[in-house]
Amino acid sequence: MNLAEAISSLEAASVAARELLAAVTNLAAVEEIERDFLGKRSVLVSVNEAIKDFAPEDRPAAGKAIGAYRSEVGALIEAARDGMSAGEAAARIERERLDLTIGGRPQERGHLHLITQVQRELEDVFVGLGFQIAEGPEVETDWYNFEALNFPPGHPARAMQDTLYVDLGEQEQVLLRTHTSPVQVRVMESRKPPIYTIMPGRVYRRDTLDARHSPVFHQIEGLVVDEGITLGDLFGTIDAFTRSYFGSSIKARFLPSYFPFTEPSAEFSVTCIFCEGSGCTVCSRTGWIELGGCGMVDPNVFKSVGYDPETVSGFAFGFGLERMAQIRFGVDHVKAFFDDDIRFLKQF
Ligand code: PHE
Repeated sequence: MNLAEAISSLEAASVAARELLAAVTNLAAVEEIERDFLGKRSVLVSVNEAIKDFAPEDRPAAGKAIGAYRSEVGALIEAARDGMSAGEAAARIERERLDLTIGGRPQERGHLHLITQVQRELEDVFVGLGFQIAEGPEVETDWYNFEALNFPPGHPARAMQDTLYVDLGEQEQVLLRTHTSPVQVRVMESRKPPIYTIMPGRVYRRDTLDARHSPVFHQIEGLVVDEGITLGDLFGTIDAFTRSYFGSSIKARFLPSYFPFTEPSAEFSVTCIFCEGSGCTVCSRTGWIELGGCGMVDPNVFKSVGYDPETVSGFAFGFGLERMAQIRFGVDHVKAFFDDDIRFLKQF
């Protein structure tokens, strides 16, 4: 072997090592290449042994070529070893990975209760008509629930509303409000006319649960007080909101009635949406479904809040939300609103 042969065999070995290393897939193969190209039987050793037979002036060049080969091939092997061990570690992690994912439970999003949805929708209708919204306490005094509303003590009209009393203060002076009308009094006490306000909320009566009655239910009260308000304004307002809630084919009807805090008073009904007025079992063949009460605010109510009945007039109305929802969605039993049966609730 002469110098030229030594250099060319080192170069060939270096090219071969590079090619083999580029294709290795595991650490053992890298080690085998290391043995073949840098080990005892490698070209490195044979060139090294041949040097002593070279002409003295060729020896340094041969030594240099050996050094270059060792460092180049050594670096290639190191790099391949690093790559393999990282790759193998990753492969082992992947191989030994435990799949801990479970089927996954679908997460259902909750939503507002149907009665709350109905309340919000009606609030929107009234806000669109220019009304404000007010609220009052559910535990009331006799004054707000009855007396200021022109129900004197012992008045037979008190018996229309079976009252649940609270064991607080003087006997029968604190109660669960039987209607939202006491909020009318609170609104008028705290503000001057003009008043265009609705008052939604929960009310309570000593009623036995049946298809149409529940001891707790919701009402929306409406109150308008201004100069020159007439019965025509009342009828127009009720007509407008029932149409916008139920649709324009629905008409409102008024029949004379009695409430101590309104004079004249009326109960109002809407066209039965099930038979569209022709008469069915839902509306007891009348073609109408009763929604609530209304009337012109009685002058005695104005006096109890310090308004002058000579300068202002107004109207009030009140209706049950459960009834509205029952009619609109065909819910036959009011109990469904108070049970927590998810099969019912998720339909809306
Ligand atoms: N508060 C009455 C009730 O619950 C309804 C009503 C409200 C009547 C306003 C007239 C005016 O029965």
